[in-house]
Amino acid sequence: MELLERIREAARGAGEIMKSASDIRPSEIKSGHANFVTEYDALVQEYLEEKLAGILPEATFVAEEEGQEVFKEQDKTGFTFVIDPIDGTSNFMKGLRPSVTSIALLKDGKPYLGVIYDPYSDSMYYAEKGRGAYLNGSRIMSSEAPLSGSLVSMGTAPYYEKEVSASAFVIGHRYLQRSIDVRRSGSAAYDLCLVASGVTGLFFEPRLCLWDYAAGACIVCEAGGRITDFLGNPLSFTGKSSIVAASQGIVKEGGYLPPEELIR
Ligand code: IPD
Ligand code: CA
Ligand code: CA
Repeated sequence: MELLERIREAARGAGEIMKSASDIRPSEIKSGHANFVTEYDALVQEYLEEKLAGILPEATFVAEEEGQEVFKEQDKTGFTFVIDPIDGTSNFMKGLRPSVTSIALLKDGKPYLGVIYDPYSDSMYYAEKGRGAYLNGSRIMSSEAPLSGSLVSMGTAPYYEKEVSASAFVIGHRYLQRSIDVRRSGSAAYDLCLVASGVTGLFFEPRLCLWDYAAGACIVCEAGGRITDFLGNPLSFTGKSSIVAASQGIVKEGGYLPPEELIR
C-alpha cells in the first residue's frame, strides 16, 4: 500500500475514535483564553503516533498534545509528521461540526503530504506535493471567482491576548465589505480545505500553530491556491504564523492581503 493510502487509513482510525466519543469534558485547560483539552485529544494523538511511527519509523514528530511540540533542528531534514489530533476541540466538546484530524508529512522541512479527515461527513481531503489535491478520490481545485464573488472564512485567534483577536475581527470586517460574507467554522484545518475545494475563496487567522496549517497548506497549494503570512511572505513551516490562504481567482486578482495597519 502506498504511503499516502496508509496515512489516510490512520486518519480514518482517528476519526473512529472521535466518533466513538461520549461524555466529552475538558480534562485540562491550557494557558490562554478557553483553551480546552479533552481525553480524546490525547487518545487520538497517541493512536496516530503509534500508527504513523509504524508506517515511517525514521520520521520525527511535532504534535499538539504532549510529546515534542517544538520544531527542532533535526526536523529540518528527513521526514517529520506534524499532527493536530483534533482540530476544532471547542466544536468537538459542544457537539458542533466540524472537527477534523490533521496530518502533515514534511520532507526536509517543507510540506510533502497533507491529510485532513472530517469523520462526521466522511470527507477525506489529501494532497501530495506535485500530484494534486483530492476530496474522497476526486480532484479538487480552488475557486476562480474574485473576492467580491467569494465567501471568506476567518479564525478568531481565540487563545491569545485580546488585541490579536480584536484585530482579527477588524480584518474580518474589511473582508466582509469586499466579499459575499464571512464565516467562522471553528477548525482552521477545515477552513483550509474549504479554500482548496473551491467552497470559500479565502481564509485568514493570526498566529496559527504549525499543526493547524501544515497539512492544509499542502492541500491548498496543490489545489492551485496560495498560502502566506499576512505580509505575503512564504511560510517557514517551523512554528506559529499568521495565515492567509487564497484561491487561484483571488491570487490572480491580487490586493487581497490584510491592510498592514490592521495587523497586530
Ligand atoms: C483551533 C482551531 C480554531 C482556531 C484556533 C486553533 P484546536 O485549534 O483550529 O479554528 O481558531 O486558532 O487553535 O485548539 O481546536 O486544535
Ligand atoms: Ca488546532
Ligand atoms: Ca487540536
